Amino acid sequence: MAYEPMERKRFGKTTARRVAGMLLAAATLVLLSSCREDMQNQPKFIPLRENTFYPDGRSARAPMEGTIARGQLEDDPLLYTGKVNGQEADQFPFAIGEPDLARGRERFNIYCSPCHSQLGDGNGMIVQRGFKRPPSYYEPRLLKAPVGHFFNVMTNGWGAMGDYSAQVPVADRWRIAAYIRALQLSQTARAGDVPAGEPVASHGLEQAGGEVGPVEHRIGHMGEHGAEPTEAK
Ligand code: HEC
Repeated sequence: MAYEPMERKRFGKTTARRVAGMLLAAATLVLLSSCREDMQNQPKFIPLRENTFYPDGRSARAPMEGTIARGQLEDDPLLYTGKVNGQEADQFPFAIGEPDLARGRERFNIYCSPCHSQLGDGNGMIVQRGFKRPPSYYEPRLLKAPVGHFFNVMTNGWGAMGDYSAQVPVADRWRIAAYIRALQLSQTARAGDVPAGEPVASHGLEQAGGEVGPVEHRIGHMGEHGAEPTEAK
């Protein structure tokens, strides 16, 4: 007699637990399904999307004042502006070697020669088709211009010429400037500039030893033959 009620009691307790467990599970399922987030609707802020959380209504936050992205600290004025103390500098921000000149020549022929011609005399194809003629690089003013001037013109544009800062990265602008210097030298060198014993091309040397004037003459002559670039050997 004493056994039976105990059995019944235990049985009753287990059933109650099972029922409670099932109810809890069902309730959890119902609750969970109502909180479901699909992946295509993620609870995050999308840049430029409107957001009521911030007073300015934008989800994207402006960086803290003075924030500089990695690699964007342009702390070398010579390198980035071509200027030192606000003046166009007559020096390069890094050493220029032969590979730099080769790269400068390649970039010059791509980006500048359509107007300036491969020779730099300002008679490029776009000019022949009617665009404003740029000055020749062999003009006395540009022969004397500091190298930072060429960098500055490429970086900020000049008169009718747009800037090339988007197309030509900083280091390549310096390489182009170096190549323009080499072009200028190639057209203005005198026989005496060649070290003794070096072979010298025979053409164009009649005027060697002159000042800038005869140089213009020689460039005009070379231009007649299709304005081919002078090989910088
Ligand atoms: C679409 C034609 C065009 C292209 C391409 C072009 N330029 Fe020019 N450039 C001009 C014109 C036109 C001028 C003269 C602008 C003026 O005086 O209004 C000029 C002027 C210049 C000057 C002389 C600035 C001065 O002091 O008078 C330099 C140096 C120069 N360009 C360098 C370059 C270099 C380097 C490139 C290539 C990265 C280049 N240009 C590409 C058209 C061009």
